[in-house]
Amino acid sequence: MTSTTDADPGGIFAQPWNWVDMEAWHQQAAAIRQESPVMPVDLPGYEPFWVLTRYADVFAVSRDNERWHNTSRSVVGPDDDWQRMIASGVPIPRTLVHLDGQDHKDHRKVTNDWFKPAAVKHRQPRIEALADLFVERLRELGGECDFASDIAQPYTLRVIMDIFGVPEDDEPLMLELTQGLFGSADPEFMGDAEDSEARLIASVMRFIEYFNALTEDRQRHPGDDLASVIANGQPGGCPMGDAERLWYYIIVATAGHDTTSFALSGGMEAILRDPDQLWVLRDEPDLVANAAEECIRWTSPVRHFLRYATEDLEVGGVAIPAGGRVLLSYPSANRDEEVFADSMTFDVRRPDAERLLSFGVGAHFCLGSQFARRELRTMLSKLAQHLAHIEPVGPAEWSASSFVSGVKHLPVRYSFR
Ligand code: HEM
Repeated sequence: MTSTTDADPGGIFAQPWNWVDMEAWHQQAAAIRQESPVMPVDLPGYEPFWVLTRYADVFAVSRDNERWHNTSRSVVGPDDDWQRMIASGVPIPRTLVHLDGQDHKDHRKVTNDWFKPAAVKHRQPRIEALADLFVERLRELGGECDFASDIAQPYTLRVIMDIFGVPEDDEPLMLELTQGLFGSADPEFMGDAEDSEARLIASVMRFIEYFNALTEDRQRHPGDDLASVIANGQPGGCPMGDAERLWYYIIVATAGHDTTSFALSGGMEAILRDPDQLWVLRDEPDLVANAAEECIRWTSPVRHFLRYATEDLEVGGVAIPAGGRVLLSYPSANRDEEVFADSMTFDVRRPDAERLLSFGVGAHFCLGSQFARRELRTMLSKLAQHLAHIEPVGPAEWSASSFVSGVKHLPVRYSFR
């Protein structure tokens, strides 16, 4: 593998600060896709990896769960941070994403029924009610707000906490913890912590405290909520381990909210450049499902996951030795010009939007994709129905994270019909 420096183009995938200017990011990623689609990256302080930027390669590796494993280190980050996390006593990550093989299948089965299309459809009236609540909040805000932090974030958080069965009063804490985990590298979300890793460790420790109490409660008084299912889950017929249960809660709480929030805020950022893309949904309501897909393709809020070769393998003509790791770049794959016509254009009518790779593919395919889709469709359709106009009143701002990130501030002015 070639040795590279901090200025290596591969830095755009791993270093948090490269994610705050997405136009520049996509230009650089497009060049890499053309010139070196399976690119070795060797950044100081990081274990080396190859980055996969083409749709076909991300798809092929994601599908092959036998030969490519996730492992407990499925997100890229500085090695020192990883060592500090392990030394801090935080249990080694064992979320669904980090499990492989039968272990993964058994754990996924615990909650799978909750996420099936029919089960999620059953929750549509509740999603509608929560969307109405936030359209009302928009009205109360009086014509100007930060669409990302005032609407997209609390709306998506409320939906997932509702499924979880977590009381509304605990939502600010959940928001803070999620930002500590996913946005820990963004100075805005660092709180009093000295650095991003300290913030992340503090968040996990606080999650442990919170979810241990929740487990105790739901084991004694199980209810009709996802927290009870996880608290009493028996993967493969055995009670779930403490670390697995903790990480199960964490993945649903975190993955279920920031991702969808960024798809909505980033989709609106694109729509604001051409609001007709929203108004068309009034006349053609059937288009709303496609519009939601396009928001999710366009934003790709999950920036990557890693996969490890279980034997000597090859991707896109490049040899990857056993133990070598590849970074699946979802934002790049979703702009691959070989798959998406005019891939750098946001278009709610896009005929190929449903080919999006934002939710991954294969055994780890996003468990919550049906919720995310419904949340987006419902809100987009309500905005189209109720708003008369909407425009930006300041620059959008993106959060600095190489794992889950997107538009964190979107100042807008609007009026109702
Ligand atoms: C636009 C919103 C979302 C995006 C872009 C997204 C993206 C992803 C991606 C890329 C993966 C990994 C797929 C792979 O490795 O092949 C994943 C897994 C997962 N997602 Fe999502 N997600 C979203 C919303 C949600 C929601 C709403 C929930 C929960 C309610 C959720 C829960 C999960 C879980 C539990 C996994 C782990 C599945 C496994 O490893 O078996 N996600 N998601």
